[in-house]
Amino acid sequence: MNKNFILKILGGLVVIGVVLFGLIQFVPVDRSNPPVVSEPNWDSPQTKALMERACFDCHSNETKWPAYAYVAPFSWLLAHDVQEGRQKFNLSDWARKPGEGGEMIESIQKGEMPMPIYLPLHPEAKLTPAETDALIAGIKATFGAEGGEEHERGEAGEHGEEGEYNEVGESN
Ligand code: HEC
Repeated sequence: MNKNFILKILGGLVVIGVVLFGLIQFVPVDRSNPPVVSEPNWDSPQTKALMERACFDCHSNETKWPAYAYVAPFSWLLAHDVQEGRQKFNLSDWARKPGEGGEMIESIQKGEMPMPIYLPLHPEAKLTPAETDALIAGIKATFGAEGGEEHERGEAGEHGEEGEYNEVGESN
């Protein structure tokens, strides 16, 4: 093989790569933010604010989609995390998708949440040790510290009615 031939092959591969990169941009990505339906009974605005910084992008319907969320294949990864996160518990659809305080605290203490891979591009989600302590105390006060006791604070119980959650529009 002479050098020209190899260069042609390499050039061809680059062109194919660029074309593929262009084409995958057309794969539809769901970046929808459904309406906020019901919220937890936050113990304080501070707890909500801390969770907004660290958790809301993936565990609520108020995701702030960053610029890289519009570029495949990064968009696919993020959209996937948001979908899974909302599936676990959704702070904007709390009556239907509640979470457990104990599990949240554990995930924070283990350093699993917020997902480490997310932090370099989202420095606002990185909490100081003092902020982490405040968040954990706030989670305890809002959700209780037990896994499986999300109904502790007198929420709707078995029926899953939204009545006793904070519906959006109520004072909060
Ligand atoms: C970048 C997206 C993202 C952020 C930010 C994020 N999570 Fe998650 N979270 C996920 C995904 C995806 C899953 C489901 C996959 C898994 O369990 O690892 C999940 C699962 C969980 C679970 C279930 C635990 C388990 O092992 O399945 C808990 C509890 C949780 N998150 C709490 C939090 C809390 C609390 C915060 C904020 C301090 C947070 N998450 C921030 C994406 C995120």
